[in-house]
Amino acid sequence: MTPELMLDLARKAAELVVEWNEGLPEENAWDGEFKKELEDRFMKDAPEDGRPAMEVLEQAAHEILPLAARLAHPRAFAFIPSSPTWPGVLADFMAAGYNINSATWLTASGPSQIELVVIEWFRRWLGYPDSAGGLLASGGSAASLEALVGAREAAGHPERGAVYMSDQSHSALIRAAKIVGIRPEYIRMIPSDEGFRIDVEALARSVTEDRAAGIDPVAVCANAGTTSTGAIDPLEALSDFCEEQSIWLHVDAAYGGSVVVTEEGRKLLRGIERADSVGIDAHKWFFQPYEAGGLLVKDARTLERVFAIHHDVLQDTLWGAGHPNFSDHGLQLSRSFRALKVWMSIQTFGMAAFRRAVSKGMELAGQAEKYVQESTVLELLSPVTLSVVCFRINPTEARLDEEILEKINRAVLARTFWDNRALMSSTLLRNTFSLRLCIMNHTTAWNDVRETLGAIELFGKEELEKQE
Ligand SMILES: Cc1ncc(COP(=O)(O)O)c(C=O)c1O
Repeated sequence: MTPELMLDLARKAAELVVEWNEGLPEENAWDGEFKKELEDRFMKDAPEDGRPAMEVLEQAAHEILPLAARLAHPRAFAFIPSSPTWPGVLADFMAAGYNINSATWLTASGPSQIELVVIEWFRRWLGYPDSAGGLLASGGSAASLEALVGAREAAGHPERGAVYMSDQSHSALIRAAKIVGIRPEYIRMIPSDEGFRIDVEALARSVTEDRAAGIDPVAVCANAGTTSTGAIDPLEALSDFCEEQSIWLHVDAAYGGSVVVTEEGRKLLRGIERADSVGIDAHKWFFQPYEAGGLLVKDARTLERVFAIHHDVLQDTLWGAGHPNFSDHGLQLSRSFRALKVWMSIQTFGMAAFRRAVSKGMELAGQAEKYVQESTVLELLSPVTLSVVCFRINPTEARLDEEILEKINRAVLARTFWDNRALMSSTLLRNTFSLRLCIMNHTTAWNDVRETLGAIELFGKEELEKQE
């Protein structure tokens, strides 16, 4: 390609993305298509001859990319939404354009140093000791897996090892435990209390029973923000327990970890700095494009001890002490330069802006909680700690049975999906169907939340009338 064409294409691509994001508020927060339709459109042989690049780019922009959840939409409240910063998006483009492979110091000294800087920032925000370190990963799933590899090694590779987590923990942790070889029957789902936090006494009982039966604890996985309700496990109590029992404590802070940059969040997550490892996702509440996960371990040497494997072909990449080869600290050899997006975003906007943006999510969730509590048709199903609001249609005086309530709330969810711009999802809270808003995009204003709640109330009232 000529430089002129490359620039034309890059300009066009940038224009399309900027226009797309500018237009988002007027669009629905979701679009999608059935497989059959898409298969007919796209399932063709790889073309022998190419076609004009501009045409390909336009097709991607108009026919492929819009068919997705618009997770940066101001009314994207489903699952864990995300609204990346523009410098973060450009960082991914530049890292790809400069073709960085952040595997080793030799292949990427500048990028490796920036990864060290970003990890150091996370370390300070978490209040972790100087000895801590880590690396960036694809996301919370990879970080959990890498953490459990460390935990298994620390536990001495027991034949019959067990991993403990609350019944609210993310499936990523169960999967990670399975991958490191924990037998499914030794993955202990410990009951949670009325606030959806792990019951530490039940955990202690489970560990005692296991030890008596010759089953060795490998790790306890704590939640710093469950996906369902945002619940934070009692991190101090878990740290006390794990220290006393010499069990690796991993904190899954994939969703909630970013709040440590705020004063309130730091208080909420007190005790996280005592964990052996912490997983934290910058592509969630830290406004970065996918993929940007992070793993921090209390003892930086742990990861290298576990993951470093000598390979003759890579012998030239050894620079010696202080020059980490990140490929020796985790799963991946070839690695994209993820740290650049975090670094560029923070350099551009400054930490004060990030702090405000994270706080805003918590504030809006607090306002939404109040709205739900004051509503005559809505019922709050879980206290709001971070930015998740779980609630349902359930007017107190109506005294409806659970089956009908579930039917009404499922209908409201479907109507919000089809008849409203917002994208909301649901969860099950001990088998009770719950509507769920996760409010964390920097693009979201109170009006977006209020109007969405208003629409939900209206749909709810209409569904209630159908029952009469
Ligand atoms: C609490 C929690 N842990 C782990 C994960 C998995 O993270 P990822 O999707 O980045 O792999 C998620 C994803 O939503 C999450 O919310």
